[in-house]
Amino acid sequence: MASIRSLAFLCGAVHLTFAQEAYTFTPSSILIGSNGFVNWGAGAFPQASVGTPLVPQSTDLETLALLQQMDPNRIQSTIQTLVNFGTRHTASDTTSPTRGIGAARNWLLNEMTELAKPSNGAMNVSMPCYQQAASPAHGMPIAAQVCNVQVEIKGFVDANRTYVYTGHYDSRRLNNSDYTGDAPGADDNASAVAIALEMIRILAPAVSKSPPAATIIIAAVAGEEQGLYGSNFLAQTLKNASVNVQANFNDDIVGSGSNVPFSPQNQHTIRIFGAGTDYLTINSSIIKEIISTGYQDDTPSRHLGRYVQEVNAGASSVTEMDVALIYKPDRFFRGGDHESFLSVGFPAVRFTEPQEDFYHQHQDPRVQDGVTYGDEIEYVDFEYTARVGKVNLLSLWSIANAPATPSNFTYDTNIGFLADSLDTPPSYLENIIKLYWDVENDPLLAYYEVVWRPMASQQWTHMLNVGLSNTTIIPVSKDNAVFGLRAVGKDGKKSPATYALAVASQYFG
Ligand SMILES: *[C@@H]1O[C@H](CO)[C@@H](O)[C@H](O)[C@H]1NC(C)=O
Ligand SMILES: *[C@@H]1O[C@H](CO)[C@@H](O)[C@H](O)[C@H]1NC(C)=O
Ligand SMILES: *[C@@H]1O[C@H](CO)[C@@H](O)[C@H](O)[C@H]1NC(C)=O
Ligand SMILES: *[C@@H]1O[C@H](CO)[C@@H](O)[C@H](O)[C@H]1NC(C)=O
Ligand SMILES: *[C@@H]1O[C@H](CO)[C@@H](O)[C@H](O)[C@H]1NC(C)=O
Ligand SMILES: *[C@@H]1O[C@H](CO)[C@@H](O)[C@H](O)[C@H]1NC(C)=O
Ligand SMILES: *[C@@H]1O[C@H](CO)[C@@H](O)[C@H](O)[C@H]1NC(C)=O
Repeated sequence: MASIRSLAFLCGAVHLTFAQEAYTFTPSSILIGSNGFVNWGAGAFPQASVGTPLVPQSTDLETLALLQQMDPNRIQSTIQTLVNFGTRHTASDTTSPTRGIGAARNWLLNEMTELAKPSNGAMNVSMPCYQQAASPAHGMPIAAQVCNVQVEIKGFVDANRTYVYTGHYDSRRLNNSDYTGDAPGADDNASAVAIALEMIRILAPAVSKSPPAATIIIAAVAGEEQGLYGSNFLAQTLKNASVNVQANFNDDIVGSGSNVPFSPQNQHTIRIFGAGTDYLTINSSIIKEIISTGYQDDTPSRHLGRYVQEVNAGASSVTEMDVALIYKPDRFFRGGDHESFLSVGFPAVRFTEPQEDFYHQHQDPRVQDGVTYGDEIEYVDFEYTARVGKVNLLSLWSIANAPATPSNFTYDTNIGFLADSLDTPPSYLENIIKLYWDVENDPLLAYYEVVWRPMASQQWTHMLNVGLSNTTIIPVSKDNAVFGLRAVGKDGKKSPATYALAVASQYFG
């Protein structure tokens, strides 16, 4: 039950701030977007004159300088080296120095160790392994060691808060159990591993001077094609150690931008798949509340996708990329390593090229009826992969230097509950939302920002600086919009947004 005090506070605040723009009907309220499609979601209904249109957060010069170092020639050379191991099937040879997954992982370990040297110890290179039993139904005819090769950079403000990049280095043939035949795996997914090595190379000198605020892990994982073995091992190791993993960015198939017949329209787009409520490891009554209040597209993974899209938009003159956020966990009936993170409750997104080239993925290298098949290096566009790498590096470095995503964000559910009482002042039923949160003890934090968007918009459309307070009233109808809260750092870097839940109901009374 709302107290008199909070009611008075509410009425006062409402009358102070609820100034609406004059509304003029314009028949062109169905807008044609720049892509020529009708934007049915724009909906022309009165909006309060509060907040400002969202301007994508900008990227500082130091970070832009890091992006400029992403080198397509090095990406090409890494992919060529990985392809030269013949096959990187998870069960392939581990004794040959030149062929099979053993040679590939030893090379990766050596390469990461060399690239990490300029970090002066800020980068911890390791190769954790475990013994995977045979699983003939899933392409593992024999037991094998599954090894991830990874670099960890400890955060200096909050070492527990962790962001993980993954790309898998294993490869496959059409027959997933064939662990001896050639499986070049250039696009799938040597391209993602090449980006991992580039990020390590570029960040090493930077972190020797100034480590990130939160911890970064950059991992080349194995066993993806057989059952996400390596990424499961990594995600479960972090879960079992109670590490606060705030994101997994997983690249998989990020190489074929300029392949005919998809060229040239897709050389500057990367897809990001973000999972919905089906992967949330929270109880069903909370999921019900999320869906019934219209927040089903505001899962942590989709907020991550929005985050990457917005940060990229602010630096797109350097990345030369568009980010297409897709509200699905992955492509149709398919999956990847980010699912290992999702299934233990960590937010995760998958990056994939805009249209897959099925002639050159998983295929056994051959010419058949005049068509060349095989995931060979000539079908990889290194400039495209480098642009994807810029988006990855930008997202990873920016998020690990931003304040933590806010916690305990909640909204007042009392508003409107007393509509049937004779004593209910009409002002109590205003088209507003009242929000609460806990102020974090985070040295990076400058202020909080409330963001919102109409239901059908994918990206936030509005933002409002609400200082270091722990509550605010926004005179925008909670029926028509969804709201988020994010933390803004002293250097302007912003966290991903978080969604509000009424379950933190200890604030109402
Ligand atoms: C380096 O990383 C490995 C694997 O996560 C871990 O076991 C080890 O303790 C780390 N070493 C240091 C010095 O942090
Ligand atoms: C696939 O490869 C495995 C291992 O080489 C082999 O035993 C199996 O017969 C192959 N399957 C088909 C359908 O060719
Ligand atoms: C994590 O803990 C679970 C439950 O105790 C255990 O089954 C699993 O083997 C552990 N995984 C790793 C990689 O430590
Ligand atoms: C890290 O954060 C998690 C919550 O995400 C918490 O459970 C764990 O205790 C923290 N670990 C340390 C060492 O602070
Ligand atoms: C789910 O969480 C809510 C709020 O914390 C709690 O009241 C409820 O008992 C939980 N339900 C189940 C099935 O665990
Ligand atoms: C969020 O709420 C939980 C449970 O009440 C509390 O333990 C935690 O400290 C709160 N977080 C912050 C940043 O205050
Ligand atoms: C918000 O901050 C005020 C002091 O600024 C404090 O009295 C109040 O308890 C805080 N509310 C919550 C919900 O943390």
